[in-house]
Amino acid sequence: MIGLLAGIRTQVQKELAQANDVASIEAIRIKYLGRNGALNQRFRQGMAQLKVEDRKQFGQAFNDQKKLIEGDLAGKEDELHQAELADLAETEAIDITFPGPPLARGHVHVLTQVRRQIETVLESLGYQVELGPEVETEWYNFEALNITAGHPARENWDSFYFSPELLLRAHTSPVQIRAMQRIKEPPIYIITPGRCYRRDAPEATRLPYFSQVEGLAVDKGLTVGDMKGTLLYMIQSLYGRDRKVRVRPSYFPFTEPSFEFDVTCGICGGMGCKSCRHKGWLEVGGCGMVHPQVLRNGGIDPTQWNGYAWGFGIERMAMLKHDVDDIRLFYESDLRFLEQF
Ligand code: PHE
Repeated sequence: MIGLLAGIRTQVQKELAQANDVASIEAIRIKYLGRNGALNQRFRQGMAQLKVEDRKQFGQAFNDQKKLIEGDLAGKEDELHQAELADLAETEAIDITFPGPPLARGHVHVLTQVRRQIETVLESLGYQVELGPEVETEWYNFEALNITAGHPARENWDSFYFSPELLLRAHTSPVQIRAMQRIKEPPIYIITPGRCYRRDAPEATRLPYFSQVEGLAVDKGLTVGDMKGTLLYMIQSLYGRDRKVRVRPSYFPFTEPSFEFDVTCGICGGMGCKSCRHKGWLEVGGCGMVHPQVLRNGGIDPTQWNGYAWGFGIERMAMLKHDVDDIRLFYESDLRFLEQF
């Protein structure tokens, strides 16, 4: 009865010799070892004919055959796999000395680019970069800039307070005072870029956090013309020679006279269009001649020296340069926006 099983393995080996892919090995496995495969059929046949006492031996023989055939199948599979690897080594040899794919690199954020461009232009005029703290005292942020307690102008620079004396600076102007105190002896030509904070709800043109670049010049006999010329040079260096600038009378407690500073719209060239709300001009910030009291607060004698100062929003300058119409885009970290610059 055991002979009933014997021929199967020879048959399997014969078919395996012809097989040259995994699929045909699988087909052979099903044909012979499957639930209704040849081996199981013979087993059921044999069991039905045998007496109870002979069944154990037959079952044993069945298991032995099954293991041997499984071994044959696995052996063939292994053989195919090795051949495949040998093939690959020959045709697709990997050169481990070859450089790998380049890593994706980030780049400098558009606001940092614009800030650095401003610094470069002003440095070429002899200005030095001066930095100040973002957490300021009430004295530097307001008092020293001639915005005394209870002055209604404080509301324009409403900030975030840690205590009655300590707050997040609402503008970069406090660095004017710090620079005068540090340098002491004019001439002073500094710019001070940095982050500022105000209690404003985020919208298309304002955010509770933003950056400014402040400029301060203290020397003998400076005029509004010197200031305008400097700012015209800066604007044309950044945006091109065809831009025009203008100053409009305004009010700041720390400058006298004070101005708003406008640049012609880059989209319509000053003709008026949708993005400049048909004015032809876009406002970049404030400026003016430094108030004598501010010089005094910085330790400088206003009878000997005078000065001019400006404070422009860096985001606004970047919006002007790249025709961006919503300030929030700069801080949303959306790569589709950032990768354009
Ligand atoms: N500090 C002012 C602001 O934040 C801008 C300014 C700076 C105006 C210097 C005049 C001189 O609005």
